[in-house]
Amino acid sequence: MEFQTICIVILVITGFAAAQDNFTFPDGFLLGAATASYQIEGGWDADGKGVNIWDTLTHERSYLVVDRSNGDVADDSYNLYLEDVKLLKNMGAQLYRFSISWARILPEGHDYNVNEAGIDYYNKLINALLDNGIEPMVTMYHWDLPQKLQDLGGWPNRELAIYAENYARILFKNFGDRVKLWITFNEPLTFMDAYASDTGMAPSINTPGIGDYLTAHTVLIAHANIYHMYEREFKQQQQGKIGIALNIGWCEPISSADVDACDRYQQFLLGIYAHPIFTEVGDYPSVVKERVDANSKAEGFTTSRLPKFTSEEVNYIKGTYDFLGMNYYTSELGEDGVEGGIPSKGRDMGTILSKDPNWPESASSWLRVVPWGFRKELNWIANAYGNPPIYVTENGFSDYGGLNDTNRVLYYTEHLKEMLKAIHIDGVNVLGYTAWSLLDNFEWLRGYTERFGIHEVNFNDPSRPRTPKESAKVLTEIFNTRKIPD
Ligand code: NOJ
Repeated sequence: MEFQTICIVILVITGFAAAQDNFTFPDGFLLGAATASYQIEGGWDADGKGVNIWDTLTHERSYLVVDRSNGDVADDSYNLYLEDVKLLKNMGAQLYRFSISWARILPEGHDYNVNEAGIDYYNKLINALLDNGIEPMVTMYHWDLPQKLQDLGGWPNRELAIYAENYARILFKNFGDRVKLWITFNEPLTFMDAYASDTGMAPSINTPGIGDYLTAHTVLIAHANIYHMYEREFKQQQQGKIGIALNIGWCEPISSADVDACDRYQQFLLGIYAHPIFTEVGDYPSVVKERVDANSKAEGFTTSRLPKFTSEEVNYIKGTYDFLGMNYYTSELGEDGVEGGIPSKGRDMGTILSKDPNWPESASSWLRVVPWGFRKELNWIANAYGNPPIYVTENGFSDYGGLNDTNRVLYYTEHLKEMLKAIHIDGVNVLGYTAWSLLDNFEWLRGYTERFGIHEVNFNDPSRPRTPKESAKVLTEIFNTRKIPD
């Protein structure tokens, strides 16, 4: 063979090997699945658990849920948690993200009354995970606020930042010897709207124009309270890590005139939480402050609908992270223009969002399949926030049920490939991934009509049998071979 030919052959072989490597998970990368307490546990009033805002919404305003269902029993994971651990083990999962039900631990929300049965339940779950070599990643708040704290006004009341800190202390005290990955809040962007609309998520209260930003404000202070309290009281001994799980997609400008509109999308939907925590300057993004202040004035408010942080608070919140949790499902097309109505952040952002009709659909109206948006968004985060450690805390696809979930299989393989490109080619610092969701479960206002599980759950059978779908089988192969099949 001529020298040139030999070189070409070598290049092709190494290129092929590199491409192969690009679809292989780095050493130490953690793979697993995720759930949340209200969506799977059931046992809504078992063993001293208090009532939470989802119990109240589903019991008192069931018409808000499409199929009028609730999470009273859900997947019955309160009783069947060992089955869940077995499913994870069978898949070769290394990480399980689940959330703790605040009212199961503190029935009235405050820490004068700790429900030992709740502590026992999570101790048993955590121990079973560790016995099976699965690392627990615990979300402290996945939307199920104790009703008693809602009776105080819920998240718009800044006092809740203290209640949250006291709740978190109970969790660190009881579980922190074994739990090393903590998430303070799940998707505050989603639950802030629950205070801006009375047809939405629990508590479904409309405090026009202000409840959502007040919620964001309390959540950021609560997050920082928890982070600092852990540093002071537990970090040295427990050596755990703390993050927050934020939801965001990519925004693709419809034309070159819409680039700023998509930039605003990032700042209003991600930056509102990430900028105060993950940047050197801290505080809300300036575009958010300017636009909400201006709109508030125009609307006749005497002060801005967006509360202000003092400079002490800016410094207090800044840097309160060990990692960023990212929930990615879909992306948007963005266009300059004002969307009316609620939530107010939509109005303030000045970006009209839509979906490309060519993007494949799911069972959820908001979810179309855009794997390349995942890579772009990971890069956006890495650039904006100094390449922080990222765990992809949710990623998944909805259908109407069935074991032969080919579209979900495709969704996972395509998204994992894009994530691996972001890691290997772009250098984004992703450390782990949990698929949403381990099980079919209560999908909030969509009840049991939209299914996100990689395991099917038969909700008509009182014993709630779980069966692996095709996607669970493919993910099992991926978790075990640590690469994406061709
Ligand atoms: C994000 C939420 O965290 C989760 O609870 C929900 O089920 C999924 N999105 C799908 O909508």
